Amino acid sequence: MQEKEITSLLSQMSLEEKIGELFQIPAYFIADGNATGPAAELGITDDDIRLAGSCLSITGAKKIREIQRDHMEKHPHHIPMLFMADIINGYHTVFPIPLAQGCTFNPALVEKAASIAAREAAAAGIHVTFSPMADLVRDARWGRVMESTGEDPYLNSQMSAAMVRGYQGVKNKLAEKGKLAACLKHFAGYGAPQGGRDYNTVELSDRTLRDDYMPAYQAAVKAGCALVMTSFNTLNRIPSTGNRHLMRDVLRGEMCFNGVLISDWAAVNELIFHGIAADEKEAALLAIRAGVDIDMASPIYIKHLKQLVEQGMLPEELIEESTLRVLTLKNRLGLFENPYKDANEKDEQELLLCEAHREAARKCAEESFVLLKNEDSILPLHKENDTVAFIGPFTDNQFICGSWSIFADDADCVTVKSGVQENYPCSKVLFSDGCPTTDPGEIIQGFQKSPEKEIIDSDLKLEQAIQEAVQTAAAADKVVLCLGEHRELTGEGASRASLTLPSCQLRLLKEISRINPNICVVLFGGRPLDLREADRHAKAILEVWLPGTEGGNAIARILYGDISPSGRLAMSFPWCVGQIPVHYNHMNTGRPFSGDFRLERFGSKYLDIPNEPFYAFGYGLTYTTFVYSAVSLSQNRLQTGETIFASVRVTNTGKRTGTETVQMYLHDTAASVARPVRELKGFTKVTLNPEESTKVCFPITEDLLRFHDINMEYKSEPGIFEVFIGPDSATNNKAEFELCHSIK
Ligand code: NOJ
Repeated sequence: MQEKEITSLLSQMSLEEKIGELFQIPAYFIADGNATGPAAELGITDDDIRLAGSCLSITGAKKIREIQRDHMEKHPHHIPMLFMADIINGYHTVFPIPLAQGCTFNPALVEKAASIAAREAAAAGIHVTFSPMADLVRDARWGRVMESTGEDPYLNSQMSAAMVRGYQGVKNKLAEKGKLAACLKHFAGYGAPQGGRDYNTVELSDRTLRDDYMPAYQAAVKAGCALVMTSFNTLNRIPSTGNRHLMRDVLRGEMCFNGVLISDWAAVNELIFHGIAADEKEAALLAIRAGVDIDMASPIYIKHLKQLVEQGMLPEELIEESTLRVLTLKNRLGLFENPYKDANEKDEQELLLCEAHREAARKCAEESFVLLKNEDSILPLHKENDTVAFIGPFTDNQFICGSWSIFADDADCVTVKSGVQENYPCSKVLFSDGCPTTDPGEIIQGFQKSPEKEIIDSDLKLEQAIQEAVQTAAAADKVVLCLGEHRELTGEGASRASLTLPSCQLRLLKEISRINPNICVVLFGGRPLDLREADRHAKAILEVWLPGTEGGNAIARILYGDISPSGRLAMSFPWCVGQIPVHYNHMNTGRPFSGDFRLERFGSKYLDIPNEPFYAFGYGLTYTTFVYSAVSLSQNRLQTGETIFASVRVTNTGKRTGTETVQMYLHDTAASVARPVRELKGFTKVTLNPEESTKVCFPITEDLLRFHDINMEYKSEPGIFEVFIGPDSATNNKAEFELCHSIK
């Protein structure tokens, strides 16, 4: 449709119809085109359903075609509905969780994962995905760190933009086959809830918000994301969903977002609980004034907007503005010409879980694993020589997709056991479960899925299982202990105050270490954990996160060395909960601690743990070693408009081919406000054969040095900068240059 046809359609619509476009129904609100019991309880009528502009969480080409046909028949202007869903790390083919994708440091791979997710979901009738989540995270207690790409503004920006490109295509032609509209979330600051408790209060200074939290949102907006979702939290005492300044001035004004703004699930209603609205009507008024176009899964807009207009409290133009945005999105998706878009059963059959998609998922998983420790080069395993006991609750466990994989079937997942058996049929292997993923009796709240069957429900059975595992370990040269967090212990609503492994798993680890010290822990889960015990007892630790459909194949190939690990941590691992928040890009204190406990009573430190994380951002090993030359700079002074090239020579000094992620960090040594001790500003991956070396070069321009200065102006300040280039955020390989502003 032409733009003017959309405006003409809008002019013909009744007020009810316009408001209907702003009303979104979740799957459980409708059955056979009518309001269900739960919907009716909320006061939603069949007439409301008839006018709903969008639908949430229904998938499947056949079903969506039927619903769409029925809906358009009944709708006075035959306007098609939008179908939206959380396609987070894949649809049926599941990729590693976003935090793991962050660890690939490979935006092209992440873009490909998103494009495959889009292709599958589009074939199943979906138009909009609620991804990327660009929330910066610094607190591993928060369950949703699994859905973020980590703690770094620069890396998150690269990843959020890559995901938008993947879903929408580089040209942002949403009507094209296999494309979804991307919804950036959760604007703003959702990743910083106090105490790591989901939905909790967020207090961020404007400078921290803008320098650290905004860049990844901005990158997704710049990449052209079609929608943005408001966050549940209050940000500096104002709930985002009612925050007019944040949405209209910052998001639309400063950040130039002109797409559809949707609330998070019933977040308009939550304005009442936040205490900024006395009742539903006021909540509706605040949200629409703030510019929230669609009210997700709640009846507030449909119940109150009309009355607000009729009572003269709300100008109809505000509703029209929002309705127009929704209609424009439908038009961009081509729904007026083709209301079913890509929904096609034959395509579903061909695409979902096809070989090419599985292979991409496996590659992505392989690149996301982070080798945290590898004493005595215990890994890789020897196919011929080693007898290996695979023990632990994740050895033969298909629940390895992450809590957002709500449309995937766990039965499609490859376990470690089957990955090893299929890829290495001649290897000498033994298997034993050892203990369950959770302690007997621990409550796991399943999220839309039946919980994992408990293999052990009593202390006695646990004892027997551990003893059996110990005997298996005794008969092996090496033990691969597959431990970790149950997938429902991360994700939405899954905050934790303790970050240790369950006690049954720690017992298993300790008992086995008494009989066989050659332990490699393969660690599953959705967040950085307290790994002190694992480190004490294991020679190797391989973090595999929640690796998705192809997890077992990827793990087997890494363990046996056909693929070398290359992932790097996108989020620091704390020593323990008490160290949180811990992130590499912190400010200095006035009393930086030198490390000498005897002399420095009043240095900024803990008495019982170091200041540094257990494993730092950017860290990760592989099966070979790399040596870096000193940093060399093409010039020592930088003027605006010029480029300095900072380079190092990287040499593979080991015996195997390997991939190194070379990282560049910058530090502004003196500025009008305190600046982070270092910030990632570039990275690149190089694959080198033994003894091979290469020069890696990073351009540095003035715009990389900007920040919000003492007057909140976004600019750079002249002075001395340090440039670090190395394998992780703890590198001390550095040089210095001076930024000189030219006199205008
Ligand atoms: C609530 C979550 O916060 C959001 O991320 C998700 O997209 C919506 N529910 C829809 O499921």
